[in-house]
Amino acid sequence: MDIWHMRGGRRLEGERRIQGSKNATLPILAAAALTPLRCELYRVPRLRDVEAALRILRCLGCRAERDGDAVAIDSTALSGCCVPQELMREMRSSVLFLGALIGRCGEAKLSLPGGCKLGKRPIDLHLDALRRLGARIEEDGAELRCLPSRLRGCEIVLPFPSVGATENALLAACAAKGESVLHGAAREPEITALAEFLIAAGARIRGLGTDTLYIDGFCPRRTVRRRMAPDRIAAATLACAAAGVGGDVRLRGFESGEISSLLHFLNEAGCDIIPQSDGLRLRAGGRLRAVGRVRTAPYPGFATDAQPLLMAALLRSEGRTLICETIFEDRFRQAPELRRLGADIRLGGRLAEIRGVEALHGAALCASDLRGGAAMVCAGLAAEGETVVFDEGHIRRGYEDLDGDLRALGAEIWLT
Ligand code: UD1
Repeated sequence: MDIWHMRGGRRLEGERRIQGSKNATLPILAAAALTPLRCELYRVPRLRDVEAALRILRCLGCRAERDGDAVAIDSTALSGCCVPQELMREMRSSVLFLGALIGRCGEAKLSLPGGCKLGKRPIDLHLDALRRLGARIEEDGAELRCLPSRLRGCEIVLPFPSVGATENALLAACAAKGESVLHGAAREPEITALAEFLIAAGARIRGLGTDTLYIDGFCPRRTVRRRMAPDRIAAATLACAAAGVGGDVRLRGFESGEISSLLHFLNEAGCDIIPQSDGLRLRAGGRLRAVGRVRTAPYPGFATDAQPLLMAALLRSEGRTLICETIFEDRFRQAPELRRLGADIRLGGRLAEIRGVEALHGAALCASDLRGGAAMVCAGLAAEGETVVFDEGHIRRGYEDLDGDLRALGAEIWLT
């Protein structure tokens, strides 16, 4: 159990470089198993989910070694296509090994994945897409078994731009014979990062960044060197922390356009946002203003992962903000905890209404998911007195050193 302590009220000032992206790294680690490949990956964040993906690779017979923020993978010796249940349970992204293993071996056996509890998280879209490509997948209770299959190119229409389903379809389509067209694909930057990695590994993919991807097989290469993309949600977290308590921060090493929908709201709330060539500067002082209506949506819309963070930033704003969560059915778990700080948040189905209060006061909170936990930390920094966040490791699943980053910006925060 991590116990986060913070004494709120200190403005955040200074500069931080943004960590490598968890959500871009995880599919790339699965992709490393797709063909016999040696890869050198840089700026790989040191996170529990990333280590879990490296353990899956090792368990499949691959070599996967870390040296600082570099990871070397050699998947030429891959010898199995089964992922044990205890590794699958550790995180949601383990399901991406399904597409990669079917692509590599034509078969696979794994159990249903774990991950943050945000309501129902089915994988029907993943399975439909893989089946369209020719995978013969059987579901037996908590187990997924793909019988020996030959993948062939086809047209796939995703009825919703699921990030994971797009990634699984992309992985398997690379190994299929003939061209595939993936309509309704997710457009998140992490999909583009995966596609760029696959192209570097020899895949022919067109349509990057759009909702139609054309995949036309593989001309395998032996080695790939890539630097992992910066983590836009880690950047969003520091931006929301500074917006909530006030400050003047420079966030470096990421593309601010990737969080433009969040920056739009922070700007409307009264923050000064100055985009810079490799990041941004954010200045905030006094009380923020409410921003009216916010609706989460697939990229380039406002990210569901940033929703709890924006909520935390707006707790002391003047006026009323209505947030509509359209992506996950149970993603306001932070709200009842934030109320303990004195926040006025009312929930009704997919809507959360925040009526800004003048001041928050310290309290003890309990984190039950990654971004919700980070939101509690951000809110605690803006509360008077001491706040304690009890967390069973959710926050560390997504942040390499959130407490260190915030401390470096002047926050009084420590873990016990
Ligand atoms: C990814 C991100 C997560 C982010 C989410 C939405 C990673 C490792 N995780 O999760 O941080 O919050 O995108 O931007 O990249 N759905 C179905 N059937 C499916 C698949 C999804 O109904 O087969 C539903 C989900 O239940 C959810 C919605 O679609 O309600 C979005 O899910 P999806 O885009 O697949 O998110 P993840 O890939 O799990």
